[in-house]
Amino acid sequence: MAVADIKRLIAKVEDLPTLPRTVLRITEMVNDPRASARDLSRIITDDQVLTARLLKLVNSSFYGFPQRVSTVTGAIVLIGFDAIRNLLLTTSVFDLFPSPTSRGRRHQESLWDHSLGCAIGAKAIGGILRYEKLEELFVAGLLHDIGKIVTMTMLPEQFERITSRVIEDRLLISNAEAEILGCTHADIGRLLAQRWNLPAKLMGLIEHHHHPSAAGAWATEASIVHLADILTRALSLGSGGDDKVPSVDRFAWELLKLKEGSLDSIMAAMLDEFDDIGSFFR
Ligand SMILES: [Fe+2]
Ligand SMILES: [Fe+2]
Repeated sequence: MAVADIKRLIAKVEDLPTLPRTVLRITEMVNDPRASARDLSRIITDDQVLTARLLKLVNSSFYGFPQRVSTVTGAIVLIGFDAIRNLLLTTSVFDLFPSPTSRGRRHQESLWDHSLGCAIGAKAIGGILRYEKLEELFVAGLLHDIGKIVTMTMLPEQFERITSRVIEDRLLISNAEAEILGCTHADIGRLLAQRWNLPAKLMGLIEHHHHPSAAGAWATEASIVHLADILTRALSLGSGGDDKVPSVDRFAWELLKLKEGSLDSIMAAMLDEFDDIGSFFR
C-alpha cells in the first residue's frame, strides 16, 4: 500500500468518534490519586445508563458476589477504580459505531460475539494461570479486534473487498486486510486506542494479539488473548471475519505452559459463560 493510502486511512481514523464525556471523565479520575470512591460515584450516578450497566454487571455471575450490590459506591469499593473504568469503557465502545445497513449490523453482531467469546476465554485462561487482573484480560479480549469495527464502519468499500477475498480465496482476514489496506486490524486498533488514550498495556495487547512475541513486557497477556481468540474460533462463537482456526503461535504456547488437557476445561467454561455474561454485554 502506498504512503498516500496509509495517510488516507489515518485521516479517516482521525474522524473516529470520541468517547462519551462521562467515560473520559472517569478515565481522568481513575488516574487522579486524590479522587475518592465518592467522587467517582457522583460522576457515574449522573449518567443513568452507565449506572444501570454497572449495577447489572456487579450483580452478574461475572463477579459472583454472594450479596446484592445496590449502590454505585458499593460497586466501586468492591471491584475497584480500574475495573470500573475498563468495564464502562468497554460497554460504551461498541455503541460508538452504529452500522447503517442490516448486513453491516449482522457483521458487527457476529464480531461482537467473537469479541465476547475471546474476552471470556482470556479470563478463563487467566484463571487457570492464576493471573491477578482477570478483568484486564477480559477487556483486552473484548477490544482485541476493535480495528475491524473501524474498517466496517469507516471504510465500507474496502471492507466489502476484504470480505470477498476472504470468501473467494479462503484467506484469513488479516491477510486480506494486509493485501487491500496495507495494514491489519491490529494496526488500526492501535491507532484507535492511541487516539482514545487507552492504557498503554491495552493498546499493546490490541496491537500484538496476532504476534504475542512482539508484545515485550506484555507477552504473557498477549499470548493469553491470542490463545483465547483461537479457541473462540474453534468453538464458532460469533465470527472474527473468516471461518478459519489458525494454529496457536508457538512462542505463546511455550510461554503459557498450559497442559493440553486444560484446553478442554477452558473451552467448557467458555461455552458455559457465553450466554450468561453475554446477556449483560450484548
Ligand atoms: Fe485479530
Ligand atoms: Fe479475533
